[in-house]
Amino acid sequence: MLISVAINVQNLYDLGARRIGVTTLPPTGCLPAAITLFGRGTNKCVAKLNKDAISFNKKLNRTSQKLKSKLPGIKLVVFDIYQPLFDLITKPAESGFFESRKACCGTGTLETSFLCNARSIGTCSNATNYVFWDGFHPSQSANEKLAQSLLEQGFDLIS
Ligand SMILES: *[C@@H]1O[C@H](CO)[C@@H](O)[C@H](O)[C@H]1NC(C)=O
Ligand SMILES: *[C@@H]1O[C@H](CO)[C@@H](O)[C@H](O)[C@H]1NC(C)=O
Repeated sequence: MLISVAINVQNLYDLGARRIGVTTLPPTGCLPAAITLFGRGTNKCVAKLNKDAISFNKKLNRTSQKLKSKLPGIKLVVFDIYQPLFDLITKPAESGFFESRKACCGTGTLETSFLCNARSIGTCSNATNYVFWDGFHPSQSANEKLAQSLLEQGFDLIS
């Protein structure tokens, strides 16, 4: 049971909300910044961080089941961001991407820059095929793919 999530949902419910969506954690260990910082030069997703995210997401799911049985009339959807993003990162070509390790901004050695904009040095000329815009954030084109998946998952909320 994730107490903070349960309290937040309960509060929203008490305020009258009946359609509530919460999102899971992403595969934290696959973010370019995480690989650069903790990947020990392997270029692979950091297994420990992904394991922690999966464990959190399972708890989130159980918490959501409990809340659903406790709060009459609630429509509560857990949007899974982990799997669709993990798929984009591990099988980028299947969705038309070619780069999921390097971010568009800061391509090269340091992918942790928070000074990313179209004119910063090292920003790629076209982010369309990059899964990541910077070390932490999916690119706009990746977000569009993720949004499609979330829309399908959220059908319960609008029906
Ligand atoms: C939550 O649990 C349900 C039922 O056990 C499962 O179908 C679903 O895929 C799980 N969702 C997540 C985000 O883990
Ligand atoms: C970026 O690349 C995509 C796919 O290769 C292409 O469709 C698009 O026109 C390009 N955009 C620019 C501004 O070059």
